[in-house]
Amino acid sequence: MTAALCPGSFDPPTNGHIDVIRRTAAICERVLVAVVANPSKAPMFTAEERVALLEEVLSDLDNVTVEAFTGLLVDYARQRGVDVVVKGLRAVTDFDYELQMAQMNHGLTGMETLFLPTNPKWGYLSSSLVKEVATLGGSVEGLVPETVLSALEEKLS
Ligand code: PNS
Repeated sequence: MTAALCPGSFDPPTNGHIDVIRRTAAICERVLVAVVANPSKAPMFTAEERVALLEEVLSDLDNVTVEAFTGLLVDYARQRGVDVVVKGLRAVTDFDYELQMAQMNHGLTGMETLFLPTNPKWGYLSSSLVKEVATLGGSVEGLVPETVLSALEEKLS
């Protein structure tokens, strides 16, 4: 396995996302982090902002690149020549949705998906919860990278 795609909304990136990307980068020769430009819910951060945040947090890894994408994931994956999609799985609640997407993607072009179990430390963490807590004035320190924490503070100030 040489090239992996880690796709997501990353609105914003959490420590859980970063953990999965770093572990994938330790296994694969090349990792492309793909930020969906138009997620189903209106994003707090623009695609450009989410790409910039991920680039900064992952800047120490020379085998990781970050891009925004639109359209079907499998088409984008084919254009970029990646071999496999890698997704983190937190709990059974993720499983149904992730399995559906993995099976659809496989049905469309034969694209394989591998699941990495999320570090239990981040098992409860989601971008939606981070946004909710931060928006309501709670602290998300330690749950997102420092760069993301500053960006959230700026966005909500
Ligand atoms: O972080 P998320 O929101 O769980 O990521 C979902 C994502 C971006 C991986 C998924 O919505 C996706 O692949 N979107 C691109 C459009 C697409 O290919 N849809 C069909 C998926 S089977």
